[in-house]
Amino acid sequence: MDYSKLLETAIEAQQFAYAPYSNFRVGAALLTKGGKVYTGCNVENQSFGATVCAERIAIFKAVSEGERDFTAMAVTGSTGKYTPPCGICRQVISEFAPDISLVLHDQQEGMKVVKAGTLFPHRTNYLNKTRPK
Ligand code: THU
Repeated sequence: MDYSKLLETAIEAQQFAYAPYSNFRVGAALLTKGGKVYTGCNVENQSFGATVCAERIAIFKAVSEGERDFTAMAVTGSTGKYTPPCGICRQVISEFAPDISLVLHDQQEGMKVVKAGTLFPHRTNYLNKTRPK
């Protein structure tokens, strides 16, 4: 799947964002090595710390269905500016795909692809493994 289609899928997933507190709506689409796509949107909670970002929802949906190999993730946010994953999401993404391609979206600039390893070069990795099998 090409990255613009993956981004379209993230934009579709954004409609399901539950973000009544921040009003910042995020959509994500995660591409597996085998070509499947798992989507995510942010889901907030009035106990703010219980909020989960769109990126982690997509990863957790995929992993919970047996997927562990990912090649790209598209992310879009409702300010229309690039929405790079937060620090917690970078760590979670890096557990499975430390150098995944992140497809970021700005309504003016369009699409930009950055490698996760560039955004998050010093991930927590005390086991010195890509991920435990
Ligand atoms: N959020 C995401 O879903 N992904 C990001 O990359 C940045 C932050 C969500 C969490 C919260 O619901 C809202 O955006 C404001 O932080």
